[in-house]
Amino acid sequence: MRLTREIRCSPEQAGNMRPLNTWAGAEGANQLIPFWILRATVEGPVDPRTGYICDIKQLDTLLRERVLAELARSESHTADAGLGMAQIGIAMTWAFKAGATNCPLPAKLFAIEFAMSPFTRFAVVSKETDVVCLTRSFEFCASHRLAVAGCTDEENRRLFGKCSNPHGHGHNYVVEVTVRGAADGRMGTLVELPVLDRVVMESVIERFDHKNLNVECPEFVGVNPTVENIARVIFDRLVAALRPAKLASVRVWETAKTFAECDGAES
Ligand code: NI
Repeated sequence: MRLTREIRCSPEQAGNMRPLNTWAGAEGANQLIPFWILRATVEGPVDPRTGYICDIKQLDTLLRERVLAELARSESHTADAGLGMAQIGIAMTWAFKAGATNCPLPAKLFAIEFAMSPFTRFAVVSKETDVVCLTRSFEFCASHRLAVAGCTDEENRRLFGKCSNPHGHGHNYVVEVTVRGAADGRMGTLVELPVLDRVVMESVIERFDHKNLNVECPEFVGVNPTVENIARVIFDRLVAALRPAKLASVRVWETAKTFAECDGAES
């Protein structure tokens, strides 16, 4: 069983501010400061008496006193230039180790996540503690029609319901691109952010944004543009374009309720 807890915090809160886990800020903050999200996921047995893996207050303490402290220390060292990818990679690795060492028993730290904004987040997972994953979020709008070639409109309506409307319909797609790399501080080991953004813009967003996927995009000739197939097509386009960076996965949200994720595996 796994449990995830999130705190909202700022680098200024490491140590001296009375924390409030809210977007409303914290007492004593008299200037605008960046707010981050930190998440800890633990796994372990559920206590049959309390029903808890551990008390979430213990996870708050772990996140604030270990993980936030590590990231804030890194940020203060690089205050002039902002937090660089290499610094974040190293800080995340140290933060994970600090968190794992201090994880409340009998829970085991499974992952920590650091969201600098709704569009950029970093994660370290227990199975690969020397690897950092960076996820960046993008958007495009497109129309499509779900249909199987050779089926009648009536058959397609039975298969895909209103999504088979012959005149098509649109979605605001959100694409989350995750790359992975060694957190050893070598610049460029993960990916440089401007490179990631440029590649995704050129290979995906400019290609599909405001297009009719069935009609205007050769990738979908003979391929039904379901969210699963869109995720696969985007993964295949990015995996080569991003090299030498390593693409870990592509998640495509079709609506706030539905996403598909492709990690390159065949099934
Ligand atoms: Ni649709």
